[in-house]
Amino acid sequence: MRLTRDIARQVKRPPSLPYPRIVQTALWFRDPKGVLTRCQERFGDVFRVEMAHQGTWVFLSGPEDVKSVFTAPADQVHAGEGNAMVRPVLGENSILLLDESAHLEQRRLMLPSFHGARTRKYADQMTEIAATEIDGWPRARPHRVRASMQAMTMDYILHVVFGVTDAEWLEPLREKLNRLLTIGADPKHALFLLAFGPDRLERFPPFRREMREIDRLIYGEIARRSNAPDLADREDVLSMLLRAQHEDGAPMTRRALRDELVTLLVAGHETTASALVSAVRELVLHPDALARLTDDVRSGSDVYLKAVIHETLRLRPVISMIPRTLKRPMELGGYRIPAGVRVAPAIYLLHRRPDLYPEPDRFLPERFLGGPPDPYTWIPFGGGVRRCLGRAFAQLEMETVLRELVRRVDLHPVPPGQAARGGGAVPTYDAEVVVT
Ligand code: HEM
Repeated sequence: MRLTRDIARQVKRPPSLPYPRIVQTALWFRDPKGVLTRCQERFGDVFRVEMAHQGTWVFLSGPEDVKSVFTAPADQVHAGEGNAMVRPVLGENSILLLDESAHLEQRRLMLPSFHGARTRKYADQMTEIAATEIDGWPRARPHRVRASMQAMTMDYILHVVFGVTDAEWLEPLREKLNRLLTIGADPKHALFLLAFGPDRLERFPPFRREMREIDRLIYGEIARRSNAPDLADREDVLSMLLRAQHEDGAPMTRRALRDELVTLLVAGHETTASALVSAVRELVLHPDALARLTDDVRSGSDVYLKAVIHETLRLRPVISMIPRTLKRPMELGGYRIPAGVRVAPAIYLLHRRPDLYPEPDRFLPERFLGGPPDPYTWIPFGGGVRRCLGRAFAQLEMETVLRELVRRVDLHPVPPGQAARGGGAVPTYDAEVVVT
């Protein structure tokens, strides 16, 4: 009997909602987390969603399957082609678009700038930026925090990654990049881009004009930096990348440098800002955790602070799944998944498994006080050879902002009946607080 069932699973596809592809796609774009939850409740840890323009996606939320995908050989699972939609903005040299040896080579060049020990050197600069921003928050009235978080994460990228401190260059770059990121963050635009496709977008005149302006600023910064007399001593990421060499001793091309700078900006700005908003949102909803965090930080400890960050990224992961395209068939969850299919570890579902995280819907930083989380069951930054390059940097940003926040001010939930800006409901991507 068991043998028959096993053979059946070899030839059968994972289960899926009984709707046509177009309906599945529409449901997905309306509420991806809702689709994930519904399918997991109905089908378990392995299921399929059919996506228009994208083919079959198989979602995985069993720890063993997630580990198998993250540890699979680089020529069996590709990530680059799944990111083709962002090629017109990031450029074809972006690490997010590369696979196999080209990806590893690019990662080798970029990794030293993001190493944990190196990242910690940026801490003082980050603290200064956070202190200035938080000191400017209004006191004793409701304040929505998202715009502040975005301003801080943008400044971290401009100062620490681009190494720009000169206001004359900072302002136009900040303004142009902000425009680009605002367009990219809107789900309506994502749907439009999916239908439009990267090739047509690249030829679309308004898009070309916008990118030309941004490129002019970025190439200008690259040229200025490469002639800087103190280039050899500078610690910012752009200066380090200008000094980096391929195995044959060649430097990165200007085009590749441009592509990686834009990639770091796109991958690192909105993600960290969203994670910070979620942390503040959870903290004001959970006064006990907020009080413990405040006491701990004010007594000079970072232990509870790190646990708050781990728990925020578990309960509210910024990215809910990580797609890979199979280049060869792979055994997952008892199914033989053919080449060409996208397999996607579902961060959102894995993080809510009651066998891994009892009472998974509760915000309980205490669950992370025992030590660092397991790399295959806590995966907000993905895993394997493609794990987020900016992980240490992002965690340092979060630690710095949250530490400065509870050190400098008292945070309170908004009293019932009061709200910022005329009292509309707080959007799910923002958080509202009162600081005194
Ligand atoms: C809380 C903030 C962040 C979250 C949740 C996050 C999450 C992720 C995830 C899920 C991936 C895909 C990993 C995979 O495919 O296995 C990724 C990749 C990446 N992230 Fe982040 N990220 C964050 C912040 C940052 C920052 C601050 C930077 C840089 C300044 C950054 C740079 C990158 C890069 C370059 C990659 C591509 C790595 C590769 O393909 O080898 N991220 N990130």
